[in-house]
Amino acid sequence: MTNGKGRYSLPALHYGYGDLAPSISEQLLRLHHDGHHKKYVDQANAALERMEKARAGDAMPNMRCEAQALAFNVGGHMLHSLYWDNMRPASSGGGGRPGGMLADVLNKEFGSFERFQKEFTELANSVESSGWATLVWCGQLERPLLVQIKDHDLYAIPGFKVLMAMDAWEHAYYLDYKNEKAKYTASFWNVVNWEVIDHRLERALGGKR
Ligand SMILES: [Fe+2]
Repeated sequence: MTNGKGRYSLPALHYGYGDLAPSISEQLLRLHHDGHHKKYVDQANAALERMEKARAGDAMPNMRCEAQALAFNVGGHMLHSLYWDNMRPASSGGGGRPGGMLADVLNKEFGSFERFQKEFTELANSVESSGWATLVWCGQLERPLLVQIKDHDLYAIPGFKVLMAMDAWEHAYYLDYKNEKAKYTASFWNVVNWEVIDHRLERALGGKR
C-alpha cells in the first residue's frame, strides 16, 4: 500500500477484474479500482507533496485544507484496500459462511450468523449518501461492532480494527445495479472472503484468545 519512499501506492487485486462477476462486473471493478481508488492514492500523494514543498520553501501550507485532503484520501485508500481484500471470487471460495474464531465471535455477539448477516445488510442498505458499512473489533469493549463510516472518515474511530468493509458509495454499485443498492448488498455476500476476515480478527485479538 506504500511505495517505500513515503508515498502511497495502488495495491494490485488478488483476482482478475472479471472474477467477481456477476456480483461486481468487470467494467465496474475496473472503474472502481483503476479510477476511484487510484484517484484517492494520487490525491493523498499530491497533498503530501504540497506540504513538503511548502516546508522546503519555509512557507506555511493551508494546513486545514491539506490535512482534510490527506485524511479523506488516505481513508479512501485504506478502506478500498480492505474492501478488495475481503472479497474473493465465488468460484474460488467466496461467500458461504465464516468458520474458525470469527464464527464463534459472531455467534456470541449476534446469536447466529443469520442474525449478523441481517443486521449488516440493514446497516449497508441504510447508508445515506456516501459511506461504508463495516464490521469492526473494539479493543476497549473486546467485542465486534457494526459501524457506518461517513465518506472515508476512518480517523473518527481510532482504536477500531476494521474486520470487514463494504463500500456503500453509489460509485460502488450504480453501474451494475442503478439505484437498487439492496441488490448489490445481497450479491456482496456471494463474494465475501471469510478467511481474510478471520485473519484480521486474529490479528486484532493479538493472540488473546
Ligand atoms: Fe469506492
